[in-house]
Amino acid sequence: MSILITGGAGYIGSHTDLCLLNEGYDIVVVDNYDNSSPEALRRVMELTGKTFPYYEADACDEEKLAEIMKKHGVDSVIHFAGLKAVGESVRIPLRYYENNLLSTIRLLKAMETVGVKKMIFSSSATVYSADNQVPLTETGKLGCTNPYGWTKYMNEQILRDAAVADKELTVVLLRYFNPVGAHESGRIGEDPSGIPNNLMPYISQTAVGRRDHLTVYGNDYNTHDGTGVRDYIHVMDLARGHVAAVRYADTFKGSDAINLGTGVGYSVLDMVHAFEEANHIKVPYVIGARRPGDIDTVYSNPAKAKEKLGWQAEKTLVDMCRDQWNWQSHNPNGYAK
Ligand code: NAD
Ligand code: UFG
Repeated sequence: MSILITGGAGYIGSHTDLCLLNEGYDIVVVDNYDNSSPEALRRVMELTGKTFPYYEADACDEEKLAEIMKKHGVDSVIHFAGLKAVGESVRIPLRYYENNLLSTIRLLKAMETVGVKKMIFSSSATVYSADNQVPLTETGKLGCTNPYGWTKYMNEQILRDAAVADKELTVVLLRYFNPVGAHESGRIGEDPSGIPNNLMPYISQTAVGRRDHLTVYGNDYNTHDGTGVRDYIHVMDLARGHVAAVRYADTFKGSDAINLGTGVGYSVLDMVHAFEEANHIKVPYVIGARRPGDIDTVYSNPAKAKEKLGWQAEKTLVDMCRDQWNWQSHNPNGYAK
């Protein structure tokens, strides 16, 4: 039995591949390398000492997905494949709706064809409406502010409906908070194309000299130092959460949404200072205007993950900052030579 990993060459996918292999699972990866490189997969093999099949294919290609699942005896799927840049999704919404919705629909149809009944889906804290109280619990009100977020919201609905219609189907909707850091080896990590949208890669690319300075988006939020607060989670903790979700999917039928976060919020300046202290390096920054769409404070209530998955985040803020820098400083240009 094997697990199909769509988007398995990406940031979270590659770390999850590694955890699954280390736990003795067989995997098969499908990625179109739209935002990744097969080099990440080669490094996962190097780190684990294991090989696995991988295909350059589109997760919207229903026939190909069915063929791969059949060939490799797949019995569950982790669906990471998707486009994830919030700003880009506002500029080219149709590309986001097409890629992120069609891939899920075609994957579900391919699963139906070959009789695969378990799916773990990459959802996001972005599905929570901005008017919830923190910490966010899974029963919070849903609602989005950008096309990327709506693709996650709609995918959740599609998957819930599919699980209502097919009583044999199990769907676990994992709502990630803010993944950061890298595997402790520094061999795999996040390699955003172009200018990073997210805080941590921007900090580490500034520290390594690829960016002149960080712009802190606003210091007049209602937080302890005026800068935005988020729930940063080490990507290896997140990857372990997927192993736990694969096991959990064996225990029930239907759908369930679960937060993967630490339950602790840190501000932008907390992150800058923690990164500087952990790595003994300066991160030049300026205070700029607020980024449209950002809110004061987002962090999770992680209790359900502990109860249902038997999982909780273990890595510290220092681990996140150290491992982010270990990856960035050894791979200043990511996977590019
Ligand atoms: P990533 O871009 O590194 O990984 C996504 C992978 O999917 C990439 O390798 C990309 O090439 C691939 N892909 C995209 N469209 C595809 C398609 N049609 N067919 C085949 N492959 C395709 O992103 P990530 O940070 O690893 O995120 C993984 C998932 O988690 C995404 O669905 C993302 O929306 C979600 N997520 C990410 C974050 C975050 O902050 N990183 C937060 C919440 C949710
Ligand atoms: N920030 C800066 N400067 C930067 C980048 C970010 O000050 O150059 C600030 C933001 O204003 C925010 C915080 O750093 O206060 C975190 O911003 P990110 O862009 O790293 O993360 P977001 O919380 O905005 O969004 C991320 C993902 C979304 C996902 C969401 C919840 O980008 O896709 O987490 O999971 F939906």
